[in-house]
Amino acid sequence: MKSMTAELYYFSGTGNSLYVTDQISQKIPYSNLIPIPALLNEKSDETKKIKRNHKSFKTSADIVGFIFPCHGITIPVIVRKFLKMLDIASSDFLFAVVTRGGSIFRGFSAINKIIAKQDKQLDATFVINMGMNDPKLKEFSVPTEEEFKEFEENVQKKVELIHRIVNNRGEYHDNISGINFTRYKWINYILERLIPFFMNHYATGMKSYFYVDSKCTSCGICEKMCLANKIKLIDDQPIWQEDMECYLCYGCLNFCPNEAIQIYDKIYMKSYTPERGRYPHPYAKVNDMVNQKSLKELGTDKYVIT
Ligand SMILES: Cc1cc2nc3c(=O)[nH]c(=O)nc-3n(C[C@H](O)[C@H](O)[C@H](O)COP(=O)(O)O)c2cc1C
Ligand code: SF4
Ligand code: SF4
Repeated sequence: MKSMTAELYYFSGTGNSLYVTDQISQKIPYSNLIPIPALLNEKSDETKKIKRNHKSFKTSADIVGFIFPCHGITIPVIVRKFLKMLDIASSDFLFAVVTRGGSIFRGFSAINKIIAKQDKQLDATFVINMGMNDPKLKEFSVPTEEEFKEFEENVQKKVELIHRIVNNRGEYHDNISGINFTRYKWINYILERLIPFFMNHYATGMKSYFYVDSKCTSCGICEKMCLANKIKLIDDQPIWQEDMECYLCYGCLNFCPNEAIQIYDKIYMKSYTPERGRYPHPYAKVNDMVNQKSLKELGTDKYVIT
């Protein structure tokens, strides 16, 4: 009998989704972990090939899972871009896991819309509430030990469920609802449509999004870990290069050891980064995040470029 194979495609800015991917892979030992940033790395030969040929990545497993954070109540722009390039013909079971701070999540339907072009739909979808990694928000706070324990218990329960559903190839769909933006239904209705639109079309190309304050010691961690290779240290100062896309992973913001990276105030939203703490997942180390940029680091060679 042919043995079962699984591929877990993941993207993580501050470690939540990476931790979940790791926990799932421990339950599904036949899974192969594939970081999405490595596949989309602007400077890799693979990406050049894709651009030249307008071709795609091809899965080679029966079971394919996607694990990523919720960005602006939908899927991150990098995940959308990647899914559009992915040939999933090999798979007969597809699942997706979103980690989020707690709002509604409208991204599974966005995925289904993309993969419907290949006559596929997600068989199982899972939502996991974890630490919020967006310190520009007024409501942001670093989770206490007690809160983190609760997240962890929740993660373990969900991973157990994912394992059961995936192993049985069952159909399952988590409830996507979450904390509302306001108590007014009509404002929520408008925001739930406006935010994903803004996220997909404008956010990643925004100029003057981050700045660095006087606490910067030029350690270079932000440059090293930027998943989009957008940050460059010039004259010992981190510069967010304008001609490069930002994946809005917030890795630079949350992993800077001196909390020296800030988000600018916008007309429509004050940023609270100067007075809030930061949130990387407690088990995530800078190198774990950096490893997402390279397939070689993980020793995975099972991806296929057509
Ligand atoms: C740009 C951005 C937008 C976000 N938008 C949402 C959101 O709309 N709803 C939500 O619940 N969490 C939101 N979050 C929080 C993350 O989804 C959450 O912390 C996630 O678990 C982070 O996963 P990661 O560490 O794997 O990147 C957002 C985070 C970022 C950086
Ligand atoms: S990680 Fe922080 S301290 Fe280090 S170079 Fe970047 S902004 Fe400066
Ligand atoms: S600039 Fe910061 S938020 Fe944007 S991709 Fe790089 S590390 Fe992520």
